[in-house]
Amino acid sequence: MKIGVLTGGGDAPGLNAAIRAVVIRGIEKGYEIVGIRDGWKGLLSPPQIFELKRKDVEDIYKEGGTILGSSRTNPFAIEGGSEQIIKNLEKLEINALIAMGGEDTLGVAAKLYEKGARIVGVPKTIDRDLNFTDYTLGFDTATQTATNAIERLHSTAKSHHRIIVVELMGRQAGWITLMAGLAGGAHAVLIPEVPLDLDGLCERLVERKKQGKSYAIIAVSEGVKVDVLEKVEKDAFGHINLSELKTGERIAKLIQKKTGIETRAVVLGHIQRSGAPTSTDRIWGTRLGAAAIDFVDEGRFGKMAAVKGEEITPVDLKKATEGTKTVNAELYELARSFFG
Ligand code: F6P
Repeated sequence: MKIGVLTGGGDAPGLNAAIRAVVIRGIEKGYEIVGIRDGWKGLLSPPQIFELKRKDVEDIYKEGGTILGSSRTNPFAIEGGSEQIIKNLEKLEINALIAMGGEDTLGVAAKLYEKGARIVGVPKTIDRDLNFTDYTLGFDTATQTATNAIERLHSTAKSHHRIIVVELMGRQAGWITLMAGLAGGAHAVLIPEVPLDLDGLCERLVERKKQGKSYAIIAVSEGVKVDVLEKVEKDAFGHINLSELKTGERIAKLIQKKTGIETRAVVLGHIQRSGAPTSTDRIWGTRLGAAAIDFVDEGRFGKMAAVKGEEITPVDLKKATEGTKTVNAELYELARSFFG
């Protein structure tokens, strides 16, 4: 039996550990494993697949990115795209598919499953905004990188008595910003789940200054809505390119104007998705990749291998991709009491 594996959407540290586990566990169970290049794009015509052997993946667990490549191709946004994929799977004799991705990639997987494809999903997104799973690959590494950045910014902000606004990734959910803000000692955290109260924030910043605290670090999710969005291009899944909105820069300018305190903006951007995975991402990558093979073995198609506490359990792909897991109010309130 032949199993295909693909990675779609933004790359995330931990994917290579998951691919390695799929290959090693799959071969051990007697399957042939093929890699599909650049997400769903590699299954459109002409398909781009290649055989994966144990020697190809043995050392990749410690590397960031994905050896398979990735893309934001949405076959359902292409005329006849999903039909092409179903036909190519048959033609290539790929009997089962493991798709690693977030809401978009796994959303496509859920729809292809309904069309008859035998698919298992692995949760991956640095944003950690997939429902019904406690963990998504890449989140720990991204949060660690963001924490280090926030912590480092303290020294320059303090030396220059400035406010520094650091923009972090998080399209719909502020998980990275909240957690890294807490761990890195940000003085305020702005996330998409909480409406922006710029006046309130500026009053606090002025008050801080009066108390002799001459600097502040503000962590901001790129998805925070500052004012009416300008017309910007959308990708195949209908998402706007948030980096074009320059959320952090715009907030920094408004803060400087309202408080009179010199303010700078820093965008951490793709550094958060890059580099070697933390041990947490390597371990969950390994466990989730192996579990995906077990799901195929047990015929659990249309399911995502979800993390529940210490365990991995099957969750319907459809259910997992219907909503977004956002930061809950209680957690935000707890975090808020540490920001000052
Ligand atoms: O994959 C999630 C993510 O990293 C988001 O946090 C971010 O908004 C987006 O991807 C950036 O996408 P791209 O790499 O296509 O610019």
